[in-house]
Amino acid sequence: MKKKNLISLPSFREEARRDPEHLIIQENDIVPTTFLVSYWQGKFFCIKTYGCQANIRDSEKIRNFLFRLGMRECPDFSGADMILFNTCAIRENAANHLFGELGRAKRERDKNKDLYIGVFGCLMQEEKALNRLLEQFSFINLVFGTNNLYSFYELLEKSLRNDEMEVAIYSQPSYLQEGIVEKEGSRYSKYTAYVDITYGCDKFCTYCIVPYTRGKERSRRMEDIIAEVNCLKEKGYKQVTLLGQNVDSYGKDFGDSYAFATLLENVAKTGIERIRFTTPYPSDFNTKVFDVMAKYKNVMPALHLPIQSGSNRILKLMNRRYTREEYLNIVRELKERLPDVYLTTDIIVAFPHETEEDFLETLSICEECSYDGAFTFIFSPRPMTPASKMKDDIPLEVKQDRFNRLKDLIDSLTEKRAKTFVGTIQKVLFEEVSKRDKNMISGYDEHGKLVHVKGDSSLIGQIKEVKIVESHTYSLIGELYE
Ligand code: 5AD
Ligand code: SF4
Repeated sequence: MKKKNLISLPSFREEARRDPEHLIIQENDIVPTTFLVSYWQGKFFCIKTYGCQANIRDSEKIRNFLFRLGMRECPDFSGADMILFNTCAIRENAANHLFGELGRAKRERDKNKDLYIGVFGCLMQEEKALNRLLEQFSFINLVFGTNNLYSFYELLEKSLRNDEMEVAIYSQPSYLQEGIVEKEGSRYSKYTAYVDITYGCDKFCTYCIVPYTRGKERSRRMEDIIAEVNCLKEKGYKQVTLLGQNVDSYGKDFGDSYAFATLLENVAKTGIERIRFTTPYPSDFNTKVFDVMAKYKNVMPALHLPIQSGSNRILKLMNRRYTREEYLNIVRELKERLPDVYLTTDIIVAFPHETEEDFLETLSICEECSYDGAFTFIFSPRPMTPASKMKDDIPLEVKQDRFNRLKDLIDSLTEKRAKTFVGTIQKVLFEEVSKRDKNMISGYDEHGKLVHVKGDSSLIGQIKEVKIVESHTYSLIGELYE
C-alpha cells in the first residue's frame, strides 16, 4: 500500500458554487524538469480515455506533456511503463468499467513493480468514486482532477521523489491556461482537431453531474481560439470542432450573449476547410448562429441539439430551460435557413416519474423533428444531483422497453435519411483505413455521415467528391467521383 499525500480533495458543495470570481489567464508554457526527462525519456505510456470529446482533448494535452518528456505511446497495457486513465462520470456504467480496468492494471503492476499508474478526469471530482479508489486501489501513483491538468509535471515529480500517491483535486477553477507549446503528433489526428472554446457548465440540469465535475462555465478569449485555429490550418488540418458543454453560452461570462455567432463567423473567416461545433443548448441558441451557418460554406450543415425529453413536464423536472414548443420553433427556424441540415440529438428515457404519456411525447417530437440520429440513454442516477433524490419509480423492464422503442424509431429515421443520399455527390474528408475492410477508406461527409469507399491510404487527409451508391443505417458506401 502506498503512502498517500492528499493535496486537495473534491467537494461537491464547493463545486456547485458560482461566485463571480475573477478568472486569471495564465500565458506561460510549462516545461518539464531535467529530473522528469531523464526518468521518462524513451519509456512507453498508454492512455485509456472514457467519455466525451472534452476528455479526448484533455488526453491530448496530457499526451503532449508526455511526448515532451521524450516518451513513446503504446496502444495497450503490455509494454507500458506508465498507464493513465482519463475517467468519465456521466453515467454509472463508465465508473464500473473503470474499476474493472483498474483491476487489469493491477495485474500488470504485479508483473512489473515499476509500472506507474495514474487516474484523472471527471470521475475523480466525485467524492464517492474517489473514496472507493483510495480504499480499493491503493497501488495507484497519481490521482488528479479536471482542474489540475496543468500541474501534471509537478505532481508526477512529487509522486516519484516521495514514492507516494499524490492526490490533487481542486473544486474551483480560477484560471485558464494558454501558451502551452504543442509538440507535433500530440493530437490524435493530423487532419481533424478539437478546439476548446468553453469549459464547465452553469446549467445544472437535475440529472447531470457535469456542473460539479467540470466546474463553472469559463470562455477562452476569442483571439486565443482564432490563433489556435490559424495554427492548425497552417499545419494542414482540414477540420476543427469547437468544443464546449454549451457552445452557445460562449462569451456570456464576459457579458456578450451573441459572442458564439461572432466567434463562429471569425473561425469561418480563417478559411479552414471545415468547422463543426458541439454541443449547443437549445434556449441559448439564437438565429444569428443559423445565419452564419447558412452564409459560410465551411461551417458544416450539421447540428447536434440535445432535446432530452419531448414532455414539458419532464423537461421541467430536468430543469431544462425550454418547452417542447420552443424547441420545435428553433428547429423550424433552423430548417428554414438550412433545409439540408443533418439534425441529431440526445435523449434520456425513464427519467424519474416519466409516464407512458410523457414517453409518447418524446417519440412524437422525434418524428416532428425528423432526427437524422440520436444518442439515447436510460436515466442513470448520479451522486449529489437533484434527480438522484427523486423516486426512481419505473420498473427495469419498462425502462428497457422504452429504450428499445425509441431506438427503433431513431434507427428508422436515420435509415430513411441515409437512403436520400444514394445517387448524390458528397464531399468526404477521409480519415482512416476502414476498420472492417482494409481495402476501404473511411471518412465523413459534410453532414457528419460516415462514408466508406474503395481506395488506398493515400486518400487519408484529403477531401474528395464521392458518389453515394449504397446506404446502411449508420454508414454510406460510395465511389470516388472524377
Ligand atoms: N443519465 C443518463 N444520461 C445522462 N446524460 C447526462 N447525464 C445523464 C444521466 N444522469 C446524457 C444527456 C447528455 C449526454 C451527454 O448524456 O443526454 O446530453
Ligand atoms: Fe449537463 Fe445540462 Fe450542463 Fe449539458 S447543459 S453538461 S446536460 S448540466
